[in-house]
Amino acid sequence: MKLLQIHSSVAGAQSLSRRLTDSITNAIADAMPGLEIVSRNLAADELPHLPGERPPVVRAGKTEDLTPVQTEEYALAEAVLAEFLAADIIVIGAPMYNFAVSSQLKAWIDRLARAGRTFRYGPNGPEGLAGGRKVIIASSRGGVYSTSAAGQAADHQESWLKLVFGFIGITDVSIVRVEGVGMGPDALAAAFTAAEAEISALAPAAVAA
Ligand SMILES: Cc1cc2nc3c(=O)[nH]c(=O)nc-3n(C[C@H](O)[C@H](O)[C@H](O)COP(=O)(O)O)c2cc1C
Repeated sequence: MKLLQIHSSVAGAQSLSRRLTDSITNAIADAMPGLEIVSRNLAADELPHLPGERPPVVRAGKTEDLTPVQTEEYALAEAVLAEFLAADIIVIGAPMYNFAVSSQLKAWIDRLARAGRTFRYGPNGPEGLAGGRKVIIASSRGGVYSTSAAGQAADHQESWLKLVFGFIGITDVSIVRVEGVGMGPDALAAAFTAAEAEISALAPAAVAA
């Protein structure tokens, strides 16, 4: 079994989503001896925005007509996608920045959701091709969004991630969150206590799946 761990916060060692991501990864590793862990830090090793010269959908490895920029982007996207597809479990640290995900995480997902590779359009509309994997989102946010209709409507972070992974065929998406972390030390401590309890339950389930 292989686990891919993604960090996407700009806060380095102070990052709360990183703390949560590490905690989830460690709990799964404890429950699953021999688990192979691959880690990618999208802030320390940033992926560029998609270039203006985007490669077209490349079928059957026919890359000979691409420009140099397209060739470089294609190789990068293939490497990122291969790493993702090789994983059985993907744990994603996802801080809320301006109601959405960090631009670092967005640039990574722009390399995953690709026609002919992880989804295709058929007669019945879009079909996801990347199913059979488990995604766990480690979500952190300064305010509280989960407990009210207005908060849920403002959340373009967790809801968007679930949408994207569902679109490429991954329906087994769990969320572990710390929210209200900007609302004082008591709120922060309570958020982590609740999240750690969730992680204790989640890790055995991840192993059994
Ligand atoms: C650029 C930036 C934008 C933010 N935007 C929001 C926001 O829209 N809503 C919110 O509740 N918290 C927001 N926050 C607070 C973060 O979600 C919170 O600090 C969280 O812990 C960030 O995760 P991290 O510690 O892993 O970076 C923002 C923080 C930063 C740095």
